[in-house]
Amino acid sequence: MFGRISRWYDFLNHFLSLGLDIHWRKVLVREAEPPGGRGHIVDLAAGTLDVTVMLAKRYQATRITAVDFSKPMLDQGASKISKRGLEKRVSRVVADGRRLPLADGSAQCMTVAFGIRNIVPRQDAYAEVLRVLEPGGQFLILEFGSGKKRILRGIYNLYLNYLLPLAGRIVSGDKAAYQYLADTIRAFPDERALARELLDAGFETVYCLPLSWGIVNLHIAETPRRAEG
Ligand SMILES: C[S@@+](CC[C@H](N)C(=O)[O-])C[C@H]1O[C@@H](n2cnc3c(N)ncnc32)[C@H](O)[C@@H]1O
Repeated sequence: MFGRISRWYDFLNHFLSLGLDIHWRKVLVREAEPPGGRGHIVDLAAGTLDVTVMLAKRYQATRITAVDFSKPMLDQGASKISKRGLEKRVSRVVADGRRLPLADGSAQCMTVAFGIRNIVPRQDAYAEVLRVLEPGGQFLILEFGSGKKRILRGIYNLYLNYLLPLAGRIVSGDKAAYQYLADTIRAFPDERALARELLDAGFETVYCLPLSWGIVNLHIAETPRRAEG
């Protein structure tokens, strides 16, 4: 499905969020600072590589692995890497987020923007993130809020039920893909339930930063540090 819409994906992202997605990704990248600004960052469900490129530009002493199971999505973003001469520090890997071809404890930081709700069951992705991150490593999830706050509910319903599938159909010709997007947003847990889920999976110090009145949330979780001594 992502392969089908890959050509339209960037345009629709910016159009449907009125450009706010750029701001949301910037906050994610700012908060994803690895220790000393160095090391290995994994961008999960990296899609057309917007977050990957921003990470590579901001943290110039890092290596980034962009993982996605849709090759057309990664291919669509490839020119963003080559245009900026980032090929030496950025690798693109076609793989399932539930089975990462990465060594244990090999990353300082992992990010996933608008992708965790597509990976089912999420617990399989969490287990892989816990395996691949070093102790005390950071996992950052950027994801739509639940839209359950009263002030947002009406706007959310209008947007998810009508505008998103309609705009998706008109621009990409693929109503089903954008209906799926709306359905997954609606089915996603709210910030408390997600924090519970992350703690149950084995993360520590989970917290959430609401962005644009909670339309989107940035969830940050840490892997347990090794016991002293
Ligand atoms: C909504 S896009 C987000 C892309 C990008 N992170 C962004 O910020 O625009 C979701 C991505 O998740 C990928 N995806 C879905 N399930 C996956 C899985 N099990 N493993 C890896 N990638 C997956 C899709 O191929 C798609 O590129």
